[in-house]
Amino acid sequence: MDKAVIDHFWRQRSALGMGRWTGNSMLAFELDLLAPLVGPNCRILDLGSGAAELSRNLLLDSSRLLAVDRYPSFLESIPDDSRISKQCSDLGSFATTDKFDLILLFGVVTHLEIEEEVELYRKVRSWLNPGGIFVVKHQVSRAAELSVDDFSEALQCRYVARYPNVNSQENLLRAHFNTVKTVSYPEALNHWPTTMHLAFLCSGAR
Ligand SMILES: C[S@@+](CC[C@H](N)C(=O)[O-])C[C@H]1O[C@@H](n2cnc3c(N)ncnc32)[C@H](O)[C@@H]1O
Repeated sequence: MDKAVIDHFWRQRSALGMGRWTGNSMLAFELDLLAPLVGPNCRILDLGSGAAELSRNLLLDSSRLLAVDRYPSFLESIPDDSRISKQCSDLGSFATTDKFDLILLFGVVTHLEIEEEVELYRKVRSWLNPGGIFVVKHQVSRAAELSVDDFSEALQCRYVARYPNVNSQENLLRAHFNTVKTVSYPEALNHWPTTMHLAFLCSGAR
């Protein structure tokens, strides 16, 4: 993948504060999916948080959120909240000695090379509390892995991304976590015939 194109894409979107482009029904579905995973005193790590539109709306009074993103403008657009801390870092170099009950990786894998993805799963295992859950969500290919490098009419720019095959994605996560539950999104939220939105709920580091 051409990382310079991906970097330019996110840099431009972060300046506009626009991390998500999938609409309110997708956000509502994701909040409903994740809310039951947030109990009292839940410590949440949001990897590739953007403006944390998803994770900050999950917070209870006793929750704590660490939002991590490579682009400072995204983090600056997160409203001040004593429950939220922010760290500007590429996920490849992000490190912490803290442990979390819920770790999110939403909409990021499509911009990681497979080696970066695997390295991240290795690190996530060490950041998860016993009993914690890691939720990975992105579009996956219904058939063979799909690589895109083209002008996107929808986004009005060159778009570079990798959509892993659905079964390969599940197998890769199963190699790192004991339990992997897949959650399909409603078909109405899948705009492309070749890909679908899927969440993987992973627990129990291998
Ligand atoms: C599609 S947005 C999703 C934002 C958020 N996770 C959500 O679902 O609302 C992807 C986010 O990942 C961030 N990102 C992409 N690659 C990254 C990397 N290598 N390191 C850190 N952040 C990254 C982007 O800056 C962007 O904020």
